[in-house]
Amino acid sequence: MAENIIILGSGIAALQLAAHLSGRFNVTIITKSAKKTSNSYKAQGGIAAVLSPEDCFEFHMEDTLKAGRFHHADKEVEKLVKEGAAAANALIKSGLPVDRLPDGELDLGLEGAHTAHRILHCGGDATGRYVIEHLLGQLGENVQVIEHELAFELLISPESGSVIGVKTKTASGKIRRYFGAHTVIATGGLGSLYPFTSNHPEIIGDGIAMAYRAGAELADMEFVQFHPTLLFAGCGAKGLVSEAVRGEGAVLVDEDGNPIMANAHPLKDLAPRHIVAYQIYQTLKQRKKVFLNIKTIKNFEKRFPTITEICRQNGVDIHSGLLPVVPGSHFFMGGILTDTYGRTTVKGLYAIGEVACSGVHGANRLASNSLLEGLVFGKRLAEFLNGQAPAGTPDKTPEESRPPLIPELVRFLDTDELKKKMMEKAGIIRNEAALQAHLEWFKALEADTFSDFSLDHLSREEIEKVFMFTNSFLITQSALSRTESRGAHIRADYPEEREEWKGVHLIHSKANGIA
Ligand code: SIN
Repeated sequence: MAENIIILGSGIAALQLAAHLSGRFNVTIITKSAKKTSNSYKAQGGIAAVLSPEDCFEFHMEDTLKAGRFHHADKEVEKLVKEGAAAANALIKSGLPVDRLPDGELDLGLEGAHTAHRILHCGGDATGRYVIEHLLGQLGENVQVIEHELAFELLISPESGSVIGVKTKTASGKIRRYFGAHTVIATGGLGSLYPFTSNHPEIIGDGIAMAYRAGAELADMEFVQFHPTLLFAGCGAKGLVSEAVRGEGAVLVDEDGNPIMANAHPLKDLAPRHIVAYQIYQTLKQRKKVFLNIKTIKNFEKRFPTITEICRQNGVDIHSGLLPVVPGSHFFMGGILTDTYGRTTVKGLYAIGEVACSGVHGANRLASNSLLEGLVFGKRLAEFLNGQAPAGTPDKTPEESRPPLIPELVRFLDTDELKKKMMEKAGIIRNEAALQAHLEWFKALEADTFSDFSLDHLSREEIEKVFMFTNSFLITQSALSRTESRGAHIRADYPEEREEWKGVHLIHSKANGIA
């Protein structure tokens, strides 16, 4: 009997998994947009990996743990850096065109909180595009990619309680069902719950909301990373200005030319992201603009062609030497709780990449460890599944037992208002009063109950609104509960790390609430 695997999402983790699954599987990748519409494809910086003789696994581990404020599963970090180096080498061996120095050695970049040059990159600052094209080219004939279908509900066997597939909505609003012994969520993070973001607008945490609705446990929902430098133009954030730019010597200055990181951290402009983002945010709050001074970088256009193009499209003249920047949401350290193979707490359901919380990032991800995570966990889950006895494919359509969500509750939900409030109340700096008020707002909208209802009858846009409000509610609840500052979770009313929170992970589940 055919053994189906369903993979939701088409970023690096999804494609690495599909490329490494054995030919015995029928693999169906389902993505709600075009297959190249992913954050992975947009990734600029690169892949952090120990590839230089002057570097070692211990340094990469230590940098990862320090940046994430020791909130990790340490064993997972060790495996990440070791398997990551092997996966990066395998990519190079398989023909990924990586950037090299004139002498042919790898051109390894430097980024924030790294103590060594270890960022493998392609096309200057177009690493994600190169890697995704490369992986797409490696997919076998057993892999089909279905584009423009929104996966919105996991199918659960009433007998076993296992996930046996997924329901989708097509572009015309038709419901389709796909069945598989294994369903893998690799839909990425949720950056577009915030108004300023480096993420694609459609990255709102679909997979997280779906897993929660299906009863899976979520962890660390309070940890949203804000990237310090998004290009600011025309009153908005217009795309990422990679940390690699600071790695090449750019300095953050205020509008009077004062370097704002000079006294903020020993690593100055290459401090961990949450520290740089915080410093920029505080400067902006004093009504001072912040710029990246790139005047010392030679051949900027050649080293950073993607950023040069973003600047050109938005009327920012790179020859002025000053790029206006603001922080914006970038990466989610929390997500669906998984074990080392990507197994969730629900049988038949897996999660890999940014959507998962496996313990490798702690409270703040180290730069360029995200493509690395996708490569490592995609390959590891493939090897795990390849080694399992064939499971056949279930095909019984479970009945929907939940009542339909009242359309009026959804129709008037305003996502622009949501994003604005998320930034103000659950953004870079948080406090109890704001978070509490935000939570009450969600409750007044009944957003805390959305998961008890069926979404079948709603439009795609309405379903996405439900997911946005569900995820935002969960983030707010976690952020309110964690009465300390750690990594990307900064509380003005609890500005320090607190011993009693060390090693504590807040877990959300539909059955038990937050614990
Ligand atoms: C960047 O290029 O600054 C982003 C890379 C990352 O998030 O790891």
